[in-house]
Amino acid sequence: MTTTVSDVRVGVVGLGRLGKRHAQNLAWRVPGASLAAACSPLEDELEWARGALPAPRLYRDYAALLDDRDVDAVWLVTPSALHAQQIVDALRAGKHVFCEKPLSLDVAECERVLEEAARYPHLRVTIGFMRRFDPSYRDAFERIEAGGIGRPFMVRSQTCDKNDPEGFFVRFAPTSGGIFLDCSVHDIDVARWLLGNPRATRVFASGTIALHEGLREFGDVDNGVAICEFEGGQLAMFFASRTMAHGNDTGSEVIGTAGALAIGRIPRLNRVEIADAGGVRTECTPTFFERFEDAFLCEAQAFVAAVQGGAQAGASLADALEATRIGSAMRASLASGQPVLL
Ligand SMILES: NC(=O)c1ccc[n+]([C@@H]2O[C@H](COP(=O)([O-])OP(=O)(O)OC[C@H]3O[C@@H](n4cnc5c(N)ncnc54)[C@H](O)[C@@H]3O)[C@@H](O)[C@H]2O)c1
Repeated sequence: MTTTVSDVRVGVVGLGRLGKRHAQNLAWRVPGASLAAACSPLEDELEWARGALPAPRLYRDYAALLDDRDVDAVWLVTPSALHAQQIVDALRAGKHVFCEKPLSLDVAECERVLEEAARYPHLRVTIGFMRRFDPSYRDAFERIEAGGIGRPFMVRSQTCDKNDPEGFFVRFAPTSGGIFLDCSVHDIDVARWLLGNPRATRVFASGTIALHEGLREFGDVDNGVAICEFEGGQLAMFFASRTMAHGNDTGSEVIGTAGALAIGRIPRLNRVEIADAGGVRTECTPTFFERFEDAFLCEAQAFVAAVQGGAQAGASLADALEATRIGSAMRASLASGQPVLL
């Protein structure tokens, strides 16, 4: 891609499971973006960057990347507990910010980011709720907006990961915020978006450990369910799992007074049907990345276009605050066994 003066020069921070994917998208697949820098405290990730990325400036230290005057926007793909302070630091350094979800694991921290961001209205800040950019979710949103299912009153939404017998989810548990803030936070954002941004009033959550006993010490579960009631009577039901045998099974349904929409009900990897001695089947998307590859790309393109003067697209900081507020209440309900009022 040719760099022009108007290119948004991006610095990716965090080159882990997802950061590598974002960095590759920004390097090769996003018009108007150039990957100027990347940052990781880990030498093996920097070594990967030397081989896989088109020679961006590499930093071990986030503060050094923020001092780089030739970085216009930072792209945070770091552990969730670091997001809030890293966003504030980026704004103070005069950078636009894309940050992976969730905004924070803590509601007060989210509020602090909103207050700080209000001081920098010329800088864009977006949180990576990429399902809003998935073509199927987008189509459903537009059909609802056009009145296609009447008044939407209920969402049923799930985020289910393939089981990892190596224990990734247990290692991830200390920094993930738990299954609701890590996984269901996507479904919460989708539900609010598809139902017209209603205010949540009460949640009730429950969960179980089906396979990963190691989660218990973190107060986490590997399968969780939750109900969320909204002002005006709208409802959402959520299911999150770390133990699917077949792959990443993520989808949503919206029920309205004149119809219903289902998005991704069968998690097909592609359109091939295999007929053999076992019957007729399709393969399943193995991870969230295969399912949402287009969405990650479209959200990156939209962010760069917004920095270049286009409209804000995707979830705002206020949306992200609400998602953390509702997800935190679910976590509290799981711990106490009681409904939580919001
Ligand atoms: N949108 C989605 O569907 C989705 C999917 C997966 C992960 N995520 C989010 O992405 C974020 C990262 O998740 P992951 O799975 O890639 O985690 P990961 O642990 O694989 O990667 C985290 C990265 O952050 C780096 N890092 C740690 N401390 C740092 C610091 N102080 N400064 C700079 N870099 C630092 C690590 O070296 C690593 O490169 C999380 O917030 C997670 O919620 C979102």
